[in-house]
Amino acid sequence: MKKHAITLTVNGEEHDLVVPSNRTLLDALRDDLGYTDTKYGCGTGECGACTVLVDGTTSLNGCLTLAATMDGRSITTAAGLARDGNLHPVQESFIRHDAVQCGFCTPGMVLKTISLLAENPTPSEAEIRHGLEGNICRCTGYSKIVEAVQDAGSRMQGTGE
Ligand code: FES
Ligand code: FES
Repeated sequence: MKKHAITLTVNGEEHDLVVPSNRTLLDALRDDLGYTDTKYGCGTGECGACTVLVDGTTSLNGCLTLAATMDGRSITTAAGLARDGNLHPVQESFIRHDAVQCGFCTPGMVLKTISLLAENPTPSEAEIRHGLEGNICRCTGYSKIVEAVQDAGSRMQGTGE
């Protein structure tokens, strides 16, 4: 199979790697580069556990994206969100509202929330539920996640993030 030499910047750190054509971004992040905070759930685009941000606030499913197509792009995983020892406001809101139980969905949920709030800083409950419908949580029942997203939107408006 053809191989591709690519460069990925992940959480601000540049990585050169060689990937076969069928290597997913999720596998490259987890298995080649060690970013295991990006979770493998279904592997078929159904659960959102593998969500990452590309070039800022655009979210995509790592399991549906071929690593070779990401050459030169900048990827953000949940591990790259904290700044100077402080969690991102979305992470803080998820904690504050008990929107985390087992935590498996949480990295993808937080990253998808950042993408959602970048497009719509003050989403309604319906807009949040629609925006996060590709991210499955088996634990929380979603209500606390909705509260956390609304709180994060308010706080980020206040801080201008
Ligand atoms: S692992 Fe990618 S959507 Fe489930
Ligand atoms: S907190 Fe367990 S899957 Fe969401």
